[in-house]
Amino acid sequence: MVGLAAGSSAQEPGLGEIARQAGRSFGTAVQGDWLESQADYAAAVLRETTLLVPEYEGKWAAIQPEEGKFEFEPLSRVTRWAAANRKQVRGHALIWHQAMPDWLVAALGEGASRARALMEAHFDRVLETTRGQIRDWDVVNEAVANPRGSDNPQDDGEFRDTPWLRALGKDYIATAFRLARERDATLRLTLNDYGVEADSPWADEKRRRLLALARELVDAKVPLDAVGIQAHLQMDHAFSAEKFRGFVASLRELGLSVLITEMDVREPSKLSGGIAARDEAVARYTKDFLAAAIDGGVRTILTWGITDKHSWLVTDKDVARKDGATHRGLPLDDDYRRKPMWKAMAEVLGKA
Ligand code: XIL
Repeated sequence: MVGLAAGSSAQEPGLGEIARQAGRSFGTAVQGDWLESQADYAAAVLRETTLLVPEYEGKWAAIQPEEGKFEFEPLSRVTRWAAANRKQVRGHALIWHQAMPDWLVAALGEGASRARALMEAHFDRVLETTRGQIRDWDVVNEAVANPRGSDNPQDDGEFRDTPWLRALGKDYIATAFRLARERDATLRLTLNDYGVEADSPWADEKRRRLLALARELVDAKVPLDAVGIQAHLQMDHAFSAEKFRGFVASLRELGLSVLITEMDVREPSKLSGGIAARDEAVARYTKDFLAAAIDGGVRTILTWGITDKHSWLVTDKDVARKDGATHRGLPLDDDYRRKPMWKAMAEVLGKA
């Protein structure tokens, strides 16, 4: 057994156990390398979660870097660790416009039948290899186009312009769900997306598009089970609990489950106060959001990482702060100590 991380005691249950006792499940994105090589990291994941999602090991570029050459070892590091430590695993993501190897982008330009064959071959191998180890999959990630905005002067319409869309039209989405269901009828099949959390006209429009897509798939009897809301939250954006709950309710009225799949919090562009004040503000923002999600009936919640140390908000240059500070948007700090965000999450996840 690995030792407990700093700032915890053996008596205190982790977020996963707290959630479980209230009939919910809590998990986080992990990387298999760190589970194997960093004991403090593995101990924190062990203590705080009941569910894992691989941060990159399930993406196309990781699994099929060359056509027909499948690499399951990175993903197996996660599923093996999960099995040994009795954690469940979600899959992420079968179809996404990022983490596509160059060969795939080129091959998708060769026409619809080639595109469909590639999708089938990938799903065949991935779903056969992970059968019984992964209980649900993000089948299609980020299919909805972003409305016009400051970083997006041109609005492409309802669906994101991707190599898959260009090869197969918008039916690539329905096709992916059907192929996944045919290969494993026991999986929970999820449509995952972002930008649907805030209280703004932009987010209103993104919500409308995602809901319209979900409704269209359900009406067409496409085997869609759940919608995943990534929840990469931004404190610069206003939040309305009422509006967000209403959105979750609309999805659930379609008969779908709603999951929070990648939660983390970007701090405001202008920081105020020291670390303690910043952490309290992150905790308050998290609590408002998570309480609304849970009141709306969300039962599965994952954060995109467990510690600020490894957060993509810190390590990915596209989302990292430009002012030299680092985001503190996950429940544990760099030393695996529980932050006010942890406490806020524990309160909400454990609510009767
Ligand atoms: C991110 C990873 O965290 C980064 O390490 C990687 O560089 C890019 O992808 N939405 C998703 C995730 O669905 O797969 C993304 O993960 C974060 C945004």
